[in-house]
Formats: sequence, structure tokens, C-alpha cells
Amino acid sequence: MVVVRAENIKTRFGSKLIHDGVSFNIKENEIFGILGGSGSGKSVLLKQMLMLEHFDSGEYEILGYKLKNISQKNALKLQQKWGVVFQFAALFSFFSVFENIAIPLKEYTKLDNMAIYEIVLMKLKMVGLQEHVLNLYPSELSGGMQKRVAIARALALDSKLLFLDEPTSGLDPYSSREFDELVLNLKHSFDLNVILVTHDKNSMKTLLDRFIILENKKVGFIGTCEELEEQNERLFKKFME
Ligand SMILES: Nc1ncnc2c1ncn2[C@@H]1O[C@H](COP(=O)(O)OP(=O)(O)O)[C@@H](O)[C@H]1O
Ligand SMILES: [Mg+2]
Repeated sequence: MVVVRAENIKTRFGSKLIHDGVSFNIKENEIFGILGGSGSGKSVLLKQMLMLEHFDSGEYEILGYKLKNISQKNALKLQQKWGVVFQFAALFSFFSVFENIAIPLKEYTKLDNMAIYEIVLMKLKMVGLQEHVLNLYPSELSGGMQKRVAIARALALDSKLLFLDEPTSGLDPYSSREFDELVLNLKHSFDLNVILVTHDKNSMKTLLDRFIILENKKVGFIGTCEELEEQNERLFKKFME
């Protein structure tokens, strides 16, 4: 099955054209990267897939659902199948770690408090954190731990699809590599599909199975790191070295 199909996406904001016919497919069980210069429309592409931003023409198909004219019922179904971590791991600062991870479970399920606690604890361990962290508040955590909690929350509903926008930005190099390792582990342990916007060259090399590079409002390249090196020396130098 194809996880995401983007077909000839065109996007404008007012008179400004951002995407001029962007197409790509994301296959099952891959970590797929969206690369491109600053302002090239990476985050907009991600938000479109998440139904948080408009597109002017073309079509997205996500897990079998077409996004244009999607019904409210199907939109709700789809939203429960994925998790998202945006650039600045937006944990609620006035909620504890436990309360943060429990949010989607309280919002979308009818589980009782015991069951919610068990699931929250399981998700916390999945991202490599210990039980005592549940009572802490985001300000008491390191940047790397905050990102882990954000991932635990994103996966609370057993999502098989995880969207990440610049997840290592703001992290020191050591925490960034730890984060990459976590994403790889999650992919292998839970058959997770990951769609990742990044400009972190280490993440690109260690994480990505395939990626697109947005350039001049179009897909300048799609494929693997090795293919880029063979096919396009200019883009390889610009993005990978
Ligand atoms: N809601 C919006 N309204 C107007 N312009 C926007 C909006 N969102 C993004 N843009 C513009 O679209 C372009 C691409 O933005 P973005 O996808 O955030 O870039 P990046 O590739 O750095 O993530 C930028 O020029 C940005 O200013
Ligand atoms: Mg961005």
C-alpha cells in the first residue's frame, strides 16, 4: 500500500506561488524526508498532509483517503491514525508529562483512568524514559526529553504514521543523535512510517530511506542518498556534505 500519494500539488498564498506541481509517493515502512532550502515549502507540504493548510490544485491520498472534499467523519478517522511533532515540541507547560501524553487518550477514547495510566506508562517506556518522569513538568526536562515526551504523545493512539517537522532543531548534537536513534528504533520495533522535514545532515544520512528535495517550487530530486550522489552532484553537495 502507498501511505501518501501527492499528485501535482500547486499552492499559492495570494499571488505568491509556493508549489508548482509537486508529486511523490511514500511507501509503507519507510522514513521519508522532505528536504529543501529555507522557505521552499517543506512545512506547508507537511501541514497540507495533516489537513492544516489549503492547496490550490492537485490531490493528496493518505492511507487510502483522498483529502480534497474529505468528509468530516473520514477526516476525524484519519487524524487518529497519525501523530505529529512540530518544530518546537509543543508540550503544554502547565500540564505534567503524564497529562500531556494522556491528552489524545482522553480526547479520542473512552478508556478508564487505570487503562490510560497503563498506556501512558507504556508509551513513556517506548521512548526510553522512566516512570518518575510522569510527574515532572516540561520546564523540568531537557530538550531531548521534551522531544521524547512529544513523540510518546504523538504515538499514544497507536499511530502507524508519524509526522516530524525539524525535530532536532534546538537540540545539541548529542541529543540530536540520540533522537535519530530513537526514531530508527521505533521504526524497526513498531513498523512505523515516518515523514520527516529536516535540514540536519546527520539525520538525513542515518535516518532517511528516501526523500524529496524541493527546489524551484518543484521536486528537484526523489530517491535515496546513494542515488542522489550518483545522479546529482550539485544537490548532493548542497544537502548532504
Ligand atoms: N499561512 C501562510 N500565509 C502566507 N504565506 C505562508 C503561509 N505559510 C507559509 N507561507 C510562505 O510559504 C513559504 C514556504 O513556507 P514553509 O513551508 O514554512 O517553508 P520551509 O520550507 O522553510 O518549511 C514561505 O515563503 C512562507 O512565508
Ligand atoms: Mg519549515
